[in-house]
Amino acid sequence: MHASTAPWWRDAVFYEIYIRSFADGNGDGVGDLLGVRSRLQYLCDLGVDAIWLTPFYTSPMADHGYDVADYRAVDPLFGDLAQIDALLAAARERGLRVIVDLVPNHTSDQHEWFREALAAGPRSPERERYMFRPGRGASGELPPNNWTSRFGGPAWERVTEPDGQPGEWYLHLFAPEQPDLNWRNPEVVEEFDDVLRFWLDRGVDGFRIDVAHGLFKEPGLPDTENGLHPSMLGYVGPSPMWNQPEVHGVYRRWRRILDSYDDSRMAVAEAWAQDSEDLARYVRPDELNQAFNFAFLQAPWSAAALRDVVNESIQATAGVGAATTWVLSNHDVARHVTRYGDGELGRRRARAALLFMLALPGSVYLYQGEELGLPEVADLPEEALADPIWERSGHTERGRDGCRVPLPWSGTQPPYGFTSEDVQPWLPMPECWSTLTVAAQSEDPDSMLSLYRTALRARKDHPALGNGTLHWLEACRDGWSGGESGTQGPHALAFAREPGLVCAINCGDTPVALPEHQGMLLASEHLDNDKLPPNTAVWLTR
Ligand code: NOJ
Repeated sequence: MHASTAPWWRDAVFYEIYIRSFADGNGDGVGDLLGVRSRLQYLCDLGVDAIWLTPFYTSPMADHGYDVADYRAVDPLFGDLAQIDALLAAARERGLRVIVDLVPNHTSDQHEWFREALAAGPRSPERERYMFRPGRGASGELPPNNWTSRFGGPAWERVTEPDGQPGEWYLHLFAPEQPDLNWRNPEVVEEFDDVLRFWLDRGVDGFRIDVAHGLFKEPGLPDTENGLHPSMLGYVGPSPMWNQPEVHGVYRRWRRILDSYDDSRMAVAEAWAQDSEDLARYVRPDELNQAFNFAFLQAPWSAAALRDVVNESIQATAGVGAATTWVLSNHDVARHVTRYGDGELGRRRARAALLFMLALPGSVYLYQGEELGLPEVADLPEEALADPIWERSGHTERGRDGCRVPLPWSGTQPPYGFTSEDVQPWLPMPECWSTLTVAAQSEDPDSMLSLYRTALRARKDHPALGNGTLHWLEACRDGWSGGESGTQGPHALAFAREPGLVCAINCGDTPVALPEHQGMLLASEHLDNDKLPPNTAVWLTR
C-alpha cells in the first residue's frame, strides 16, 4: 500500500500505557488519567503517534482492571469520564491518537449482569449471559470439565444458589473474579456493539481487544486432552477454549462499526494463535486491523530465528492484505532487556532490537519503560506481589509484577517523581534506578531514551521507513549483495528498504563487515571502522 494512501495506523508507533504504573496525578501511589495527561508532552517528544490505555473502567481490580464491572464508567482510582474527555482533547491537540482496551471475554464478578445471574438461579436468561453448567458427579460436586484457568487452578467455580444450596458452576478462563461471557447469546453481542459505539462517540481512535481469541468455546465444552493450562503467553495449540471459528463473525461485525465512523478508527487483536497463518485470519480485510505479533516477541536472539519470524509474519499478513504489528514487550511478559540477557548484554541487544524493529515494514507497539531500558524487577518482596497469578498458583509463580513497576521520572530515590515524595508507590521501586530516570537519561546522548527519540524521529523522516516492503541482502565473498537469505554467516542479517536504506544487525559474538553504503544514519553502539560489532544494529544509507 502506498504511504500516502495508507490509513494512519498501518505504520504508526503506538505506546502502551499501563495506567497504574505510568504517572500518579493525585498522589495516592497509583497511576491515573491525570498523570497521563500531565505527561503527554513527554510522549510527543519521544515521537510516538498513538497511545494505548490499559483498562481504566470501574473495577474491583482483581486483575488490575481486566475485570470490568462497568464498561461505560471510569474507576475513581483512575479518574472519571470528564478526565477521559480532557485526556482525549489534550491528546488530539497534540496530534496523538488514543486507543483504549476492550475486555470482551469476561466481566468482573461485580458486574451487574453477574450479580443478576447469581440471584436469578439456574436456567434463567440472566445465567445465559455467562457460561454456567451443572457439575459432574453424583451431586454435581465435580467441575463440568477438566479445563484449567490461565492463572492456575480449575477454570470453574461452584456457586451457592439463592436457596443456600451448592449449585451450578461457572467458567472463568482467568481469575474466578473474571467470569467468561457467553458469546453465543445475542444479548452479549449487542451489548458490546453498544460499548464500542459509546467510546467511539467519545472520540477514541480504536481498541485493543483483550483475549481476542477466547470469546467462543467449542460447543459441548469437551475435556482437553491433557488438562494442562498453557502459560500466560505461551503457545496456544488447537484447543476447545481458543481460536474457535465463530470468533471471526464478531470481528466482522466490529469492523463494520469501526468503518461507520470517519477518521480511520481501528482495532488491534491480542490473540494467541497457533501460527502466523492462524493469526492472519484476525486481520483479513473485513476483520480487525492489526494483531500483535507475539512470535516476534518470543523469538530467541538469533539471526536465523529473527529472519524466519520476519519472513513468516510478512508473508502471512501480506497474504490477507494487512501489515505486520511488531512488539517486543508488554505488561504480561518479562521486560526484553532482561529476556535478552540482562545487564550490559541485555541493554545492547535491546538497543539493536529497537533499530531492527523500527526498520521493518508495518506498525510497532512500545511498552512504557522500554524507552528507559528498564529491566524486569525480579526481586520484589513476596508481600508486595499483587498479580493474581501469585495467589492462584499457590505461590509457585510470581506473576507479572516485575514488568509493571512504576516509571522513574526524576530524582535520585524512590518514588522518582512517579508519585508524591512521601507516598509509597503501589509496587516498590528499586533503589538503583536513579540513572534510569527520564530526567537523567534526557541529558545523556548515549542513553536508551536518546536512542528511542532519535530513532523514532528518523523513522518518521525517512521515506523508506514505515509502510512498504523489504528485501534481504545476502552475504558474499566481499560483503553483502542482493539475495534471498539475508544472513552473513549464521549471526548477522541485513535488509534494504527503498529508497536507499539498509538495516543490518549482528546477533553474534564477532564483528562483521558492514553492507555497502554511502553514509550512516544511526547505530545502536559506536562503530569501529567499517565493522558492525556484536549485538549491534545500524541504519545505513546507500
Ligand atoms: C490479557 C491481559 O493483557 C492480561 O493482563 C489480563 O490478565 C488477561 N488478558 C485477562 O484479561
